[in-house]
Amino acid sequence: MRIVLVGPPGAGKGTQAAFLARKLSIPHISTGDLFRANISQGTELGKQAKSYIDAGNLVPDEVTIGMAKDRMDQADAANGFLLDGFPRNVFQAEALDALLKDEGQKLDAVLDLEVPEDEVVKRIAGRRICRNDSSHVFHTEYSKPQQEGVCDVCGGELYQREDDKEETVRKRLEVYHTETEPIIGHYRAQGLVVTISALGKVGEVTERALEALKK
Ligand code: AP5
Ligand code: MG
Repeated sequence: MRIVLVGPPGAGKGTQAAFLARKLSIPHISTGDLFRANISQGTELGKQAKSYIDAGNLVPDEVTIGMAKDRMDQADAANGFLLDGFPRNVFQAEALDALLKDEGQKLDAVLDLEVPEDEVVKRIAGRRICRNDSSHVFHTEYSKPQQEGVCDVCGGELYQREDDKEETVRKRLEVYHTETEPIIGHYRAQGLVVTISALGKVGEVTERALEALKK
């Protein structure tokens, strides 16, 4: 299956993607995680992306689309993928449509996670992620690690993302509404959008998502 996950910052895209990818046996591809890995490795791409991310803005399309394409071209993504955080504006959605068309492929669904803004703010405020791998995600109240400050998956140090500061979160939400939400209309016109509520326990949301994807 080829699925795009969409939803505001803090909706739980990364959290759900980890479970859904395992269930559906497809790789979880998060452009945010790819950027963070590049930043921590000090690559040229990481250097280009960092100032945009820290300010809560989108990284320029030419950088992002190239990086996403390289990842989708890897062997593990030949039979499907779960995209998290890409595409993030209509230009990127059109670029993805064209890339898939070239390969004779198409998307199966766009899963839209709906969460009220006050809940998103609480989720982001308590989020802690792992230094070794930013796809290892915890929350100080809702998803506590067994040992405070330590990743359950790999033992890495947990920390708060630089762009999770209140002021940057406000900017990211604004960018979501102006730049990213329009992709829902783009995909609705293709009959691909499945909207679910992302409220409730993590496992409940996963069940809801799997049920919705069956249709
Ligand atoms: P990215 O990393 O994609 O950030 P985002 O979209 O803002 O989304 P988040 O990762 O903040 O939230 P999430 O929905 O994954 O929530 P999570 O599962 O962690 O992008 C970061 C930046 O990179 C962008 O601002 C941009 O600069 C750049 N970028 C990335 N892609 C780009 C692109 N395509 N083009 C241009 N620039 C790009 O959950 C949040 C918290 O809630 C966690 O603590 C979790 O434990 C908790 N939680 C999850 N589910 C539940 C639940 N059901 N109940 C209670 N708590 C929950
Ligand atoms: Mg995420």
